Amino acid sequence: MKLIVVDDYEAVSRAGADVIASIIGRKPHSAIVIATGDTPMGIYEQLAARNARGDVDASRILAFQLDEYLGVPPGDRRSLYGWMERSFLAPLDIPDANVVRLPWDEGLAEEGCAAYVRAVEAVGGFDLAVLGLGPNGHLGFNEPPSGPGSRTRLVDLTNESIESNADYWGGPDVVPRRAVTAGMDLLLAARQILLVVSGEHKQDILRRTLDGPVTPDVPSSYLQQAGGVIVLADRAASPSVG
Ligand code: PGA
Repeated sequence: MKLIVVDDYEAVSRAGADVIASIIGRKPHSAIVIATGDTPMGIYEQLAARNARGDVDASRILAFQLDEYLGVPPGDRRSLYGWMERSFLAPLDIPDANVVRLPWDEGLAEEGCAAYVRAVEAVGGFDLAVLGLGPNGHLGFNEPPSGPGSRTRLVDLTNESIESNADYWGGPDVVPRRAVTAGMDLLLAARQILLVVSGEHKQDILRRTLDGPVTPDVPSSYLQQAGGVIVLADRAASPSVG
């Protein structure tokens, strides 16, 4: 695991964009799983600006959705697919045909998860997983407890995740209680993992991710055992410097 600490959020965004651009440069058809959440937004803005200048061409990547709320259709502004589309797919000119979605409809969830896993396997696994760090150590919506073998599946959200997503939804009472997530098994097997972390409120969970016991209670702690992990953090989030 390689920890890179930079000054601030702006520097995280630039360095994160560099990592992604270099992977796409080496392999234009890279299979990349794309987190939403606040932290990677600066990275995606950087990439969009580079795309507009012609410095990056991400249009041939295969983009995989990381997680989704159950029962929230893609047309709803609050769906995570919608967020991914606005922040990443549209600005980078990635066509629909190059996007693998997760199911959002409960009736189709099992079949949709199986189809997603088949699509990941068909390309030989993820070349890159771009991940944020949940305040409870979740990766995607792999909520604690989630071990390294946790599959792509339906999950119940923890109170901590409901609280941390409350602003986005306009209050904890309206946050959906269930979600679908790409499994820990697929994420940890990615050839590169870029974990992006910013802000003092992430300091404690980042410390537990990097140095704490490896346990299902902190799903992100399994990154200690995965290969090709880059943890990109700003000084405020960094337990050693912050
Ligand atoms: P954030 O979310 O980037 O909005 O902090 C991270 C997460 O909960 O996975």
